[in-house]
Amino acid sequence: MTQNSAAVDKKETVTLTDNSTGRTFELPLISGTVGPKVMDVRSFYGDTGYFTYDPGFTSTGSCESKITYIDGDEGVLLHRGYAIDDLAEHADFMEVSYLLLKGELPTSEQKKKFESDITRHTMVHEQINNFYRGFRRDAHPMAIMCGVVGALSAFYHDSLDIRDPHQRMIASYRLIAKIPTIAAWAYKYSIGQPFVYPKNELSYAENFLHMMFAVPCEEYKVNPVLASAMDKILILHADHEQNASTSTVRLAGSSGANPFACIAAGIASLWGPAHGGANEAVLNMLEQIGSKERIPEFIKRAKDKSDPFRLMGFGHRVYKNYDPRAKVMQRTCHEVLDELGVRDEPLLELAMELERIALEDPYFVEKKLYPNVDFYSGIIFRAMGIPTSMFTVLFAVARTVGWIAQWSEMIEDPAQKIGRPRQLYTGYTHRKFVPLHARG
Ligand code: ACO
Repeated sequence: MTQNSAAVDKKETVTLTDNSTGRTFELPLISGTVGPKVMDVRSFYGDTGYFTYDPGFTSTGSCESKITYIDGDEGVLLHRGYAIDDLAEHADFMEVSYLLLKGELPTSEQKKKFESDITRHTMVHEQINNFYRGFRRDAHPMAIMCGVVGALSAFYHDSLDIRDPHQRMIASYRLIAKIPTIAAWAYKYSIGQPFVYPKNELSYAENFLHMMFAVPCEEYKVNPVLASAMDKILILHADHEQNASTSTVRLAGSSGANPFACIAAGIASLWGPAHGGANEAVLNMLEQIGSKERIPEFIKRAKDKSDPFRLMGFGHRVYKNYDPRAKVMQRTCHEVLDELGVRDEPLLELAMELERIALEDPYFVEKKLYPNVDFYSGIIFRAMGIPTSMFTVLFAVARTVGWIAQWSEMIEDPAQKIGRPRQLYTGYTHRKFVPLHARG
């Protein structure tokens, strides 16, 4: 597969006709390396005086990118051209991170250097500890993540100049390296245990598990099966092109905001139950369903338009086929449950039965609603002993590299502009001001 810059094909155009005036407008078509053609509307407003209207950006490409490609109809996800299942099976998270950031898989030497660079940035400034103590113990860890990650910009002044490629790189490494430390500490704080510092001899995934579960009073040995599962989970969540949180990072960064602030914005966006909060919602839903016998009742509710209930972990804005990440996640789920000796896990059995029933139901079939990546991840996390409130935090840990890669690509793009959508205004037209004493 080749890659090059988007090509505007002067010969291929789309003609729009304004039926009220008879005016016609010709719009050029742009081709990427793969995927649907794109209508170039950049000069549309200037040329015609019309805006396009697209709430939720379902038909709008906001940028040109070489990082991730998704074919939602076929259930394909590629990072820099490599299929997600190949990466999950044959690479580790550090290789995938390098690939996302730099465009190529690393050589052994490059990988060693990259791992060492990341490892040497895993500690956070000691004063950051104080931030945690300002939070209530029962604060949601995503609230802590938003606060502490945003606060990094107050500590690392030497990597805030986004026009300097070296500073951008250092900020990127710092974010990727420190996010597991910040996340694990959010958990430790919530359960009243001392913070565990990173250990340089451990891999990225091992280190995270170590900081989550070790305590100073006894030796903690990382289970290799769990570390490998965690590594896969990180890979599967690393990037997903222009989703809500990534678009948020790009939009925040388009004004020139520093990367720490931009990633904090991404974390805030990820928190919502329609996005990263879905894996937490899946588990809550499975617990609410409780038993296989009650599945039909909940399926019925999911189909009822007057009921706000939705089958969490089902459906995706882009995938109208099985999410390729969900397949890997399902396998990983079984590996983890086998390793931990969790046989006949009722929630897993419930999840599989729910999946089976929904995939045979005409409503879900017709609307192409398949299980997404969040459907199984919650069960794995729970088996590992990770509390529900930490699920979205784990997603944020994994997605940080994707956010950073997308942010860097945007900053390096000569066509980059501040993001500033327009609107369809339906409010009052100009009204005469009425002084306070004269208002009824
Ligand atoms: N349960 C029941 N019905 C659903 C579901 C669901 N999970 N998802 C979509 N539908 C229905 C909608 O009601 C709609 O029906 P209609 O055409 O009769 O109006 C139709 O399917 C299309 O759904 P939209 O909401 O228009 O699709 P959209 O692309 O806006 O939403 C979303 C995608 C938000 C992911 C949605 O499927 C959903 O809410 N799923 C549950 C939450 C979830 O699992 N989110 C995780 C997403 S993956 C991620 O962020 C990593």
